[in-house]
Amino acid sequence: MEKKNLAVIFGGKSSEHEISRVSAAYVISRISKEKYNIFTIGITKQGKWFLYSGDTEAIKDGSWENDVNNKSAFISPDSSVKGMVVMSDGKCEVIPLDVIFPVMHGKNGEDGTIQGLFEMSGIPYVGCGVLASADCMDKVTANIIFASLGIDQAKFTWCYASDFKKSPEKCMEEVEKTLAYPIFVKPANAGSSVGISKANDRTELEKAVEVASKEDSRILFEETVIGKEVECAVLGNDEPFASTVGEIAPASEFYDYDAKYNNANSLLFIPARIEEELIEKVRENAVKAYHAVGCAGLSRVDFFVTEDKRVMLNEINTLPGFTSISMYPKLMEKSGINGYELVEKLIELAFERA
Ligand SMILES: Nc1ncnc2c1ncn2[C@@H]1O[C@H](COP(=O)(O)OP(=O)(O)O)[C@@H](O)[C@H]1O
Ligand SMILES: [Mg+2]
Repeated sequence: MEKKNLAVIFGGKSSEHEISRVSAAYVISRISKEKYNIFTIGITKQGKWFLYSGDTEAIKDGSWENDVNNKSAFISPDSSVKGMVVMSDGKCEVIPLDVIFPVMHGKNGEDGTIQGLFEMSGIPYVGCGVLASADCMDKVTANIIFASLGIDQAKFTWCYASDFKKSPEKCMEEVEKTLAYPIFVKPANAGSSVGISKANDRTELEKAVEVASKEDSRILFEETVIGKEVECAVLGNDEPFASTVGEIAPASEFYDYDAKYNNANSLLFIPARIEEELIEKVRENAVKAYHAVGCAGLSRVDFFVTEDKRVMLNEINTLPGFTSISMYPKLMEKSGINGYELVEKLIELAFERA
């Protein structure tokens, strides 16, 4: 069988740039070298694209950016090209691509923007399409969709940051009319808990909105759910498979950026410490939510499970972390799909969808 050309894209302008690099190294090292010629495109934090052909280790620590062999490169939006344009010494070369594997989290990577470019390029790609990516990335939009479908989730309301700035008292009164403290305040778009805080009173609420407003123009307010935080890994297109359920026990008050990536005291339990019946309910609801927004390829669906056995959706991550400590690959592994099989399956699903 002829080898296929596969491009992995990592990095980007997102606040999750560093995590994307570690995820990319995980994915690259698990792609079959017999089946694929692997090309790696790195996007710097400034948004500059390079074809990088050095060691995978240098992707992890960011030193890939200094490689003297880096060449400017981009995916052509022209679908008659179906490939990547590489520039060096004032000349352009086209490398045809059979499939693209984006390993980018958050802004510009997981929000439908780069998926729009892939659609135009006509090249099959791993993961969710434009709409599912955009809907899941925007927490206000996602909550509205889930509410309209009757999916159980935290009580919420939202506002424009600009309206809040103009009349904070009026907005806070509105929020307090709908929700009881403590209230989670989140920018509609961000990721990795950036810009999220928990407000216990009005003073904290005002401060929290200020923090969230740095990330986005729309602000989401949610009532605090008390319960276990559990996650389910979903894999597939029309008939997706839901993994067993994992539980995260954050080291800090909630699963903030530090608890996610820096604090070794944050614990994972697989399976989650909940009854079998609730595990099944989480798996079922994960597939329901996945279908509701039209996910494809993969997503990690996150829930809270309360004392009184409510399974409440928190969010869908369409390009979840793929590091050695990440829940998605761990859950798949526990369900009998190792990292190599997982990566191959994701590529197959990209071809199937195209
Ligand atoms: N309504 C809520 N009730 C209780 N905890 C919450 C709520 N919303 C968020 N959290 C906590 O904050 C963390 C980050 O929020 P999340 O919405 O998952 O944002 P991100 O997309 O950045 O992961 C969650 O993992 C959880 O620990
Ligand atoms: Mg989350």
